[in-house]
Amino acid sequence: MNPFKRRTGVVPSYFTGREKELKELKRILDSTKNGDSGNIIFYGSKGIGKTTLLLKFQEEFENLDDVYIIRVPLVEGDFNDIYNLIVDKTADFLNIKVTSIWNSIKEIGVNVPIIGGFTLSRDIPITSPTVALEKILKLIFEKLKGKDPVLILLFDDLQRILVNEDTQKILSIMQNALVELNIAKKKIMFVATGSYDIFSKIVEYTDSAVRIFDPYELGPLSFEDTKKAINIPSKKEGVVFDDEVIKRIYNVSEGNPYYLQVIAHNCFNEADNNKVTVHTFEKSFPSILSFLAQREFKTMYEHASNEEKKILAIISQSNTEVLSYNEIKIKYNTNSEPSIFLKSMVNKNLLIKESRGKYKLRDKMFKEYLKTFKPYEENGSLTY
Ligand SMILES: Nc1ncnc2c1ncn2[C@@H]1O[C@H](COP(=O)(O)OP(=O)(O)OP(=O)(O)O)[C@@H](O)[C@H]1O
Ligand SMILES: [Mg+2]
Repeated sequence: MNPFKRRTGVVPSYFTGREKELKELKRILDSTKNGDSGNIIFYGSKGIGKTTLLLKFQEEFENLDDVYIIRVPLVEGDFNDIYNLIVDKTADFLNIKVTSIWNSIKEIGVNVPIIGGFTLSRDIPITSPTVALEKILKLIFEKLKGKDPVLILLFDDLQRILVNEDTQKILSIMQNALVELNIAKKKIMFVATGSYDIFSKIVEYTDSAVRIFDPYELGPLSFEDTKKAINIPSKKEGVVFDDEVIKRIYNVSEGNPYYLQVIAHNCFNEADNNKVTVHTFEKSFPSILSFLAQREFKTMYEHASNEEKKILAIISQSNTEVLSYNEIKIKYNTNSEPSIFLKSMVNKNLLIKESRGKYKLRDKMFKEYLKTFKPYEENGSLTY
């Protein structure tokens, strides 16, 4: 059985590293227990391990006395969906009927739109979101057992609800509800995850007073953690990866666990006599790239404008990893300024701005894709 995963959002067969992050979560949990509630948001690029960290945290701490961890995966949608998601997940978790929670909500006079756009009551006005969220959370507290329970809500993919004016208010609403809950001495902790650019989105749309979440950037895995993530599950299946292959995987994946899993998955399938050698790795690499091309890289490339595609071609063909603005401008070779395109490419996470006026591609795997597939050659005007 192949122990490696080819998708994000799935539990790895062996969880590696993240000791620092789990310690930080434990610290916030203890502080919340002691009456000083804390909230954190882990952000980072695709596949860096955000969902997996939440799952691990849940697994490690859900059996503590009086600690209730409810995971709420967010979906793109309307603000009201938040109530529905929270209520649904709570009902699941507590093993009670969703309708029984909605009935209790109705009984305390909260009137909010529920699934399908209906409101609970036609006779009373709709409850304001802050009050509704506060009351719904207080009601959930009442359903929890124990004298002084700690409720932890895990919101995965916060960027999904920052899509329109209404949902952008969620952070201030959460903040207000939190203040009220703290006054009522209810112990609640929010842990969220978000895309690499979540903070720029939050800052853009909400008042800077909204500081309910401590930002924490989730970084890549270390070499040692990468090594364990590959060796431990593969050895269990009787397959051995050469040290040299592990170095190559670490180098090209740059410690991104999603890439690591995809690469290891393909190499595992190609193992010869239960061994993965550099030869196996090299043989598998083209299919790894085409898998990732179909999954993400092609769309990322196609979402770039023609000018941006040209810049991608320039950077991917360069021998150096980082290019300066001047080098790009010379190769760009037109009268127009590349700066606005560079800025938009950084925003789209196609490029990373290393320092002032220095740019590189978002990651090595994407660079390998561009170099190998040369998608810019399909369009004659972009050939170099
Ligand atoms: N600590 C870890 N040890 C081993 N594998 C991991 C670890 N973290 C993540 N992975 C694996 O890497 C892949 C990506 O992880 P995950 O889905 O958590 O990333 P993500 O940041 O939530 O991605 P997305 O941006 O798509 O939501 C998954 O296959 C997961 O099993
Ligand atoms: Mg995720």
